[in-house]
Amino acid sequence: MRTYLVTGGAGFIGSNYIHYMFRKYDNEIRIINVDALTYAGNLENLKDLEGRENYTFIKADITDKEAIEKIFAENDIDRVVHFAAESHVDRSIKNPEVFVHTNVIGTACMLNAAKAAWENPDGSFKEGKKFLHVSTDEVYGSLPDDGKSYFYETTPYQPHSPYSASKAGSDLLVKAYMDTYKFPANITNTSNNYGPYQFPEKLIPLLINNALAGKELPVYGDGMNIRDWLYVDDHAKGIDMVQEQGKLFETYNIGGHNEKRNIEIVNLVIDTLQEMLPDDDPRKKNVSKDLIKYVTDRKGHDRRYAIAPDKIKAEVGWEPETKFADGIKKTIRWYLDNQDWLKNVTSGDYQKYYDSMYEGR
Ligand code: NAD
Ligand code: DAU
Repeated sequence: MRTYLVTGGAGFIGSNYIHYMFRKYDNEIRIINVDALTYAGNLENLKDLEGRENYTFIKADITDKEAIEKIFAENDIDRVVHFAAESHVDRSIKNPEVFVHTNVIGTACMLNAAKAAWENPDGSFKEGKKFLHVSTDEVYGSLPDDGKSYFYETTPYQPHSPYSASKAGSDLLVKAYMDTYKFPANITNTSNNYGPYQFPEKLIPLLINNALAGKELPVYGDGMNIRDWLYVDDHAKGIDMVQEQGKLFETYNIGGHNEKRNIEIVNLVIDTLQEMLPDDDPRKKNVSKDLIKYVTDRKGHDRRYAIAPDKIKAEVGWEPETKFADGIKKTIRWYLDNQDWLKNVTSGDYQKYYDSMYEGR
């Protein structure tokens, strides 16, 4: 039975990935989820897995060398899938240090622990061991708004935000381990994900949460920035396919040619909520385009992201399955059906975060 060490599995993509893997492999695999449970980590995302014999949660920080080494010493890990990171660009603009600490130092710590556990005395690596580093298309910087230029695996790195710079640093460390030690790894660089369990600091769940409460919908700048949206299950499937079918030491971009301007997303969320909410739901009257408020732009706001997924399609056979029109409906349905989840994550510190981020904007 293959044993996976998943870092950041209590976050948005990590928890969706763990669900995806158990749906696909059921009792053929074992997963150890290592997460520090920061504001973004939530064990509620995984509560249906409690009691599963082939699932273990360990609360640990990826920068804690001893804790991570102990996990490798006590378990024969076959696969590492490394999600754990600080992930929100706006937070990185306010407080960059924690991004460097978690994303760069934490990745170095994961690489060192895996290398020490997997290396043979002659410097080669034990058969079948693999590390997958989950990264972002933001490392490539910003594309012109021309509808025809794309991020390829060969596009030079040009990160702009402290978040993307820290992710670029972590990617380069993984590349250095592959080049120097022939450390068995892959890197994936993926576009914007959406779906269930996403923390409502990110655009789509923030819009849903605010619209239902009749709160303003903050649109940065002119609302014409472009992001390339991918349903989170398609990302999970891509990660698994790269790890099992991709070529070791390679980078794969994961994206599905689904570019949207931010203002299109805002209008779509409002229209879909109006369509889905029953007439007698008191929140329906809150949901209106009058809530849209153009606010001061994000500092250094990248204009356009767009992935060229040619390599993953040709070499791995991956293609996204979820059409955006369906994915957005599934996502909104999930938030409507999981209002308690939303209430829990927005109680406490969320309000303080929101006020500090949006006050006076
Ligand atoms: P998230 O913020 O929802 O989750 C991050 C998880 O990591 C949380 O569970 C948190 O508790 C955990 N974590 C943070 N610091 C930790 C530490 N020091 N030790 C252990 N655990 C820690 O993030 P996400 O959106 O799920 O993103 C996951 C990964 O995917 C990140 O590496 C991110 O850069 C990458 N990524 C995200 C997107 C996206 O659209 N969300 C797109 C491409 C790549
Ligand atoms: O491209 C992949 C990246 O996508 C991931 O690496 C990041 O972890 C993830 O957070 C996401 O980054 P973005 O900055 O693109 O996502 P965010 O949801 O923060 O913003 C999406 C777009 O919406 C962006 O152009 C900024 C804009 N925006 C965002 C918020 C939160 C608004 O206009 N208003 C808002 O309130």
